[in-house]
Amino acid sequence: MRVLGIAGSPRRSGNTDLLLEEFMRGAADKGLETKTIALRTLKFETCRHCDACLKTGQCVVKDDMQDVYRELEQSDLIVVASPVQFVGPTAHLKAMIDRCQCLWARKYVLKVLPLGDERERKGFFISVGGTKLKDMFEPSLAIVKTWFHILNIEYAGELLFKGIDEKGAIKKHPDALKQAYEAGQKLAEG
Ligand SMILES: Cc1cc2nc3c(=O)[nH]c(=O)nc-3n(C[C@H](O)[C@H](O)[C@H](O)COP(=O)(O)O)c2cc1C
Repeated sequence: MRVLGIAGSPRRSGNTDLLLEEFMRGAADKGLETKTIALRTLKFETCRHCDACLKTGQCVVKDDMQDVYRELEQSDLIVVASPVQFVGPTAHLKAMIDRCQCLWARKYVLKVLPLGDERERKGFFISVGGTKLKDMFEPSLAIVKTWFHILNIEYAGELLFKGIDEKGAIKKHPDALKQAYEAGQKLAEG
């Protein structure tokens, strides 16, 4: 089994990066093959809405998103990590999700499998936010869950931490990193 971690934060080694790292370590310790992609290191455009994918199921823009499509197709467990920014996911993550319009087209227009095969993929979401506002994760949850649904990825849960703001603050949380490690182990066990 292969796990794909998608780091959506613009901040390297920030709070969601640390949580994702622990999740991946937990999964790797259970024998899973892991791969993490930090979206901030990729060069990719936003969706052009050219509609070319409605005919082909492929994106005409040949940039680093082509690697992301390939990684999604080859993975069994997909873990997305993004802090809350302006009450939603980061621009990096939203841009990646929008570029999956070609996968939406495969499923809903061309009536083929969005990720090419029928394996049972699972998805997990990790997020933090600097504030402690009520319902602060709802917009991100709605977007990420919808994305998983479109890709036929079964939603398997989330880890959400409020009041985590400065870089590395997650290390001061009593057990957040442990929770992430254990979630990685649990998901790896299926
Ligand atoms: C542009 C920007 C927008 C933000 N918007 C929110 C917000 O709407 N709600 C919130 O609780 N925190 C917000 N934050 C704070 C981040 O969620 C917080 O600093 C988080 O710990 C960053 O995680 P990271 O280290 O993984 O990037 C924002 C931060 C930035 C830079």
